Amino acid sequence: MNNQDAKISFTKNLLKWHRNNERSFPWKETKDPYKIWLSEIILQQTRVEQGLPYYLKMVKLFPTVQHLEKAKEDAVLKAWQGLGYYSRARNLQAAAKYIVDELQGKFPEDYDGWLKVNGVGPYAAAAIVSFAYNLPHAVVDGNVYRVLSRCFGIETPTDSTEGKKTFSVLANELIAKKEAGRFNQAIMDLGATVCKPFSPLCNTCPVHENCVALKKNLITSLPIKGKKILLKNRFFHYIIAENENGFLMEKRKGNDIWKGLYQFPLIEAEKFLSPEKLILHPALKNISLKKKIKLKASEEFIYLLSHQKIHAKFFILFSNNINTENYIVIKNTHLKKLAVPKIIEHYLKNNIH
Ligand code: ADE
Repeated sequence: MNNQDAKISFTKNLLKWHRNNERSFPWKETKDPYKIWLSEIILQQTRVEQGLPYYLKMVKLFPTVQHLEKAKEDAVLKAWQGLGYYSRARNLQAAAKYIVDELQGKFPEDYDGWLKVNGVGPYAAAAIVSFAYNLPHAVVDGNVYRVLSRCFGIETPTDSTEGKKTFSVLANELIAKKEAGRFNQAIMDLGATVCKPFSPLCNTCPVHENCVALKKNLITSLPIKGKKILLKNRFFHYIIAENENGFLMEKRKGNDIWKGLYQFPLIEAEKFLSPEKLILHPALKNISLKKKIKLKASEEFIYLLSHQKIHAKFFILFSNNINTENYIVIKNTHLKKLAVPKIIEHYLKNNIH
């Protein structure tokens, strides 16, 4: 079979398979670009099983772009709590403002228009315009890299400039022009349920007849990722400081992870500090004005992000002179209402009742 025939056969077999194997999700039942946009932003870097409850919550709390635009940032971040990549939530709201203020509440109706929306890149723009308007723009995400690299035997690293171009050109050649939305959904569904990263179900795969990786025994080595991700280790010391009115908390600022979320006073260092060393830290002296204080350290918690490994310990501060000046004081009963990073949510669940 020549290359052109293989491409035609791929699209035909994929669509045929999808008619009987479609996964049903609430965002597939709608053509409302607002809901499709929400779902795609949530599903970027999130598995559908994890994203689904967040989608339902967001649609319920903010049923239209106007609701999202008017919402308080804290409320949006709270709804997003636990999903990670919080810039996605902040971008959503910035985008809602743009759509309401600059586009008079009307969503873009083409690919280039969506690319101008905050937080929407080539992947989300293609997904939205193909699902909402059936426009022929192919999505290229992790699922697509996997399916295409295996089926067509492409060994170019998916995270290289050349790889990105190669996969995007091929996906756009393959896309069914009249059924663009279905094609995009089908290739993602195939990647998620059949052409899985480990133990793919090649026997039941609708495109296995032409699959180069299957023929050449390359399934486990494709797709190829070139770059090694360097993990940065960070050491967080959270200070649990309580007075008669509640716990000291602060809101994260600056251009860093978890911006806008709340946390216990944080002291970051190059490595873990012992309670004796931490007591001498200027930031701690600022929290407790008394000289005679004690700190009790928790065990270490580790939280893995895409490029960072967070090592955290919680230190209970024993002092009868807490300085609240640079912090907000939150009652125990209110702590759980704040949007907090997962690591703190976990601590609150287990330690503060
Ligand atoms: N991942 C990202 N978008 C998706 C969608 N529309 N359906 C299933 N998985 C997805």
